[in-house]
Amino acid sequence: MHMYRLVLMILISACLISAAENNSAGRCMVCHKEKTRGLYNQWFNSSHAMHNVTCIDCHRAKKNEKDSFLHYDAYIATLVTPKDCGTCHPAEMKQVSGSHHARAGQILESNDAYLAHVAAGHPVAIQGCESCHGANVVIDSKAENKLAKTTWPNSGIGRMNPDGSLGSCNACHTRHAFSRAQARQPESCSKCHLGPDHPQKEVYEESKHGNAYYTNIDQMNLTADPWVVGEDYFAAPTCASCHMSATLKQRYNHDVGRRISWTCRPLFSTKTENWVEKRNNMKDVCQTCHGDVFVAGHYYQYDATIRLYNEKFAKPANRIMTLVHQLNLLEKPAHFANQIEWTFWELWHHEGRRARHGSAMMGPDYTWWHGFYEVAQHFYLKFIPEAQSFRNETVNRVIDSLFTHDPMHQWFNQDTDKLRRDIRNGSFEELYKQMFEQ
Ligand code: HEC
Ligand code: HEC
Ligand code: HEC
Ligand code: HEC
Ligand code: HEC
Ligand code: HEC
Ligand code: HEC
Ligand code: HEC
Repeated sequence: MHMYRLVLMILISACLISAAENNSAGRCMVCHKEKTRGLYNQWFNSSHAMHNVTCIDCHRAKKNEKDSFLHYDAYIATLVTPKDCGTCHPAEMKQVSGSHHARAGQILESNDAYLAHVAAGHPVAIQGCESCHGANVVIDSKAENKLAKTTWPNSGIGRMNPDGSLGSCNACHTRHAFSRAQARQPESCSKCHLGPDHPQKEVYEESKHGNAYYTNIDQMNLTADPWVVGEDYFAAPTCASCHMSATLKQRYNHDVGRRISWTCRPLFSTKTENWVEKRNNMKDVCQTCHGDVFVAGHYYQYDATIRLYNEKFAKPANRIMTLVHQLNLLEKPAHFANQIEWTFWELWHHEGRRARHGSAMMGPDYTWWHGFYEVAQHFYLKFIPEAQSFRNETVNRVIDSLFTHDPMHQWFNQDTDKLRRDIRNGSFEELYKQMFEQ
């Protein structure tokens, strides 16, 4: 700790302790210093403590607020929502509430939610889905207005709070330090952005960006204020650098969607609204460290890979699956009680996303081995045979036509020697040229 900071801390605590005798604000610290030492010290070492923002400044509540309760001699609330933080940080609150993150709690109607409830059970929805996406936090009016145990603890990114606000700032700003240096590091995103269906953390760790970051953390100047790529640090970008933080031309922004040009979450990808502007925002980050030609090259390859996934696998599989539903071919009436539904689901929701995320963020192992390799395996050796097993003429006609007329799938019924010759003489390169030309 710097000397001046230490002196400041001593001064602050002296003031607090003397204030403690006669006001409830000071009493919070005096008592919690004993009762919850870890929590107290997190706060004590924080920028908030240095600026005299104390327990009551965040936890204060009016008597008539839904989640307020009397705690010794003060009305407080346990939740400190984006609206509460927003009284001092209005710009951040506005950016967060305009982002996809704020809406992440509205997932109840999704197939994911259906699956968690029927295939597993309610406790999983709470400790799984809602722990990342956010719970609808309800008050237990029988327990002195305390937060109901079924919905709290929770720090999901799109939490629905009793005051109507959406999200939870400490999804990224771990309490009670609330440090921006911590939020700038990839770990602050990686509780949620990992795993079989959105492995951004793993992709990052295997990319050259992750390599450069983990081997140069001491050069990242993480406590700088502001933190401008190219000026305050240049060794490597983190998740925040690319998706949120400042460049020489852009201020930092809490809306993580401002630099995204393709949606890689749905069954097949489409361009986002105002995608050109968004892509230019991202390119501006890249161009701090790379030349224009290099950056354009990355997007050229990424676009082609997304189109390949869309046209070769996602759209045909969707056409077949739609027919299966329309013709009522499934044996069991309940969704996800039939094998082919799981196969189709994983095809786009798991490996199909992994392939796209690997491609977006320079993770070759995810683009191929955890991505397209598995997409292809599941498509050719599981999904198609399962669809054929219904022995339905219409479905079979669509599949046959795919394998006979679509040059991308014709290989399946051809001779290996011919295919090897075609690869050598460049026919395959020619075949996929269309992916680069749109
Ligand atoms: C005399 C000791 C004491 C004082 C004064 C005190 N607290 Fe607490 N506080 C506790 C203890 C013990 C707990 C844990 C048990 C409980 O929830 O009552 C607690 C719990 C809490 C909780 C969590 C409640 C929950 O439902 O999970 C919050 C938030 C909190 N205190 C904030 C404050 C604030 C803000 C102040 C000052 C206005 C304050 N405390 C003053 C002792 C104290
Ligand atoms: C900058 C705002 C801020 C300050 C200052 C602050 N808190 Fe909190 N506190 C929070 C947030 C955010 C949460 C998590 C609630 C949520 O998710 O909405 C929380 C949660 C808590 C909890 C319940 C969670 C747990 O881990 O038990 C306690 C107890 C608590 N705070 C006590 C305190 C005390 C005591 C102080 C002063 C030493 C303090 N807080 C200062 C923002 C703050
Ligand atoms: C480990 C954290 C985590 C868990 C657990 C989790 N999700 Fe997600 N979910 C995410 C992330 C992160 C994304 C965004 C991925 C991306 O952008 O690539 C997401 C995306 C989604 C989407 C797509 C949203 C859109 O805009 O297209 C839905 C729907 C969804 N999740 C529902 C659920 C449900 C329901 C569950 C429980 C069965 C669940 N998730 C479990 C983190 C999680
Ligand atoms: C998705 C993760 C995430 C969430 C959610 C989030 N933040 Fe941040 N926040 C960050 C990152 C990363 C930075 C550092 C940006 C930079 O300086 O490069 C930051 C920086 C800040 C700063 C410092 C700004 C400055 O002047 O340097 C404040 C204040 C802040 N956040 C407040 C909030 C508030 C209030 C909320 C909730 C409404 C919130 N944050 C939600 C990730 C997040
Ligand atoms: C009473 C006003 C107030 C409230 C309420 C408040 N803050 Fe702050 N916050 C400040 C001040 C003052 C600073 C220090 C000056 C600055 O960096 O902007 C600060 C700094 C920060 C920083 C930067 C810390 C760093 O590393 O330098 C973050 C992040 C932050 N606040 C997040 C939050 C979050 C999240 C909440 C709600 C849980 C919150 N604040 C509630 C006043 C407040
Ligand atoms: C607590 C969980 C959680 C944390 C922490 C989190 N995210 Fe997210 N993120 C999500 C979920 C869930 C979604 C999908 C929201 C939806 O579409 O409904 C998402 C979506 C996104 C998107 C897509 C936005 C869009 O508009 O399409 C980006 C980019 C993103 N997050 C980046 C980050 C970064 C960078 C961090 C860390 C600084 C971070 N996230 C931290 C859960 C989280
Ligand atoms: C070198 C810059 C860079 C870094 C570092 C980076 N990303 Fe990305 N990210 C991108 C690009 C580029 C895209 C694709 C943007 C587009 O479609 O235009 C993307 C896309 C995303 C998406 C959207 C996926 C979807 O389903 O639509 C999420 C979520 C995301 N990144 C999260 C993260 C997280 C979390 C980290 C850190 C673990 C991270 N990113 C690190 C550049 C980066
Ligand atoms: C803070 C600097 C920095 C930023 C910002 C940055 N990169 Fe990089 N990037 C690097 C470094 C360092 C390497 C490793 C160079 C090498 O191969 O020696 C790298 C490597 C790459 C590679 C080569 C990957 C490989 O496996 O050979 C690609 C592609 C790339 N970056 C694209 C991007 C794109 C696209 C963006 C913006 C979305 C971006 N970078 C942002 C520093 C950065």
